Amino acid sequence: MNSFIRTACAGGVFQIEIDRPDKKNALTSDMYATMADALARADADPAARVVLISGAGGNFTAGNDLNDFLAEPPSSEDAPVFRFLDALANLQKPFVAAVEGVAVGVGTTLLLHCDLVYAGASARFVLPFAKLGLTPEAASSLLLPLRAGHARAAELLMFGEPFSAQLALELGIVNAVLSDGQVIEHALERCRKLTEQPAASLRLTKQLLKRARQTLVRETMSHESETFRQRLQSPEAKEAFAAFLEKRKPDFSRFDGL
Ligand code: COA
Repeated sequence: MNSFIRTACAGGVFQIEIDRPDKKNALTSDMYATMADALARADADPAARVVLISGAGGNFTAGNDLNDFLAEPPSSEDAPVFRFLDALANLQKPFVAAVEGVAVGVGTTLLLHCDLVYAGASARFVLPFAKLGLTPEAASSLLLPLRAGHARAAELLMFGEPFSAQLALELGIVNAVLSDGQVIEHALERCRKLTEQPAASLRLTKQLLKRARQTLVRETMSHESETFRQRLQSPEAKEAFAAFLEKRKPDFSRFDGL
């Protein structure tokens, strides 16, 4: 078990907690691999009726670990990050997220695969792919415009500026905004309620809700992952990661975009 990902199953609720608070729960390849395995276990375990994901220490996750991206960029479609995204898109059981603090990159895009999302009032969502020299992942280039419309999706993806829990609620990314500190308890209460529902009906309801988009989601993810892997090797991405690690503003003026 990876020490930064904690899992536990009790009372029908399978909990996945991202627990690397000193790095704002940034996700490494090992952590993605552990989460992909955890989702597979949750789906296979009859004692697990609902899956809940959250972050420790007041943040959801700062997204991909940028050191890891520089040192070990995912180079194939079966890299842990893509295995995790695939497991998310194919999860059969209800998937619930409790979001406090920052939800950056995959921290926001994974929410588009959740069935229910609860956020704290001061939670901040960010889709920084373009400003990191990257491109959208997790089928967000399909799922975000479906929720938010093209113009708002373009604004969030092109500027990569943080947006509030209130806006996430208006865009249909989250179900409810709770007082800070009450998110996990509320999410757990909703999860417990789901455990009392007929599990097969929930599984089939989820399947039906996603059926029309499922093939398109898979195709989009595969296409996005190819582009994303190419962009990870781009000079713009390398400049953006170096700038973050050196705590300075990136300079993209040398790159012409062709
Ligand atoms: N990868 C690696 N390390 C990260 C990280 C990431 N994605 N996000 C945060 N950290 C590290 C910081 O380097 C810092 O480490 P240090 O204490 O050793 O210097 C520590 O976590 C705390 O982060 P800090 O930036 O000081 O916290 P903050 O509250 O000022 O800002 C964020 C929080 C999340 C807004 C900011 O850290 C950030 O923008 N992170 C990058 C997010 C990102 O671009 N993710 C990739 C998405 S594809």
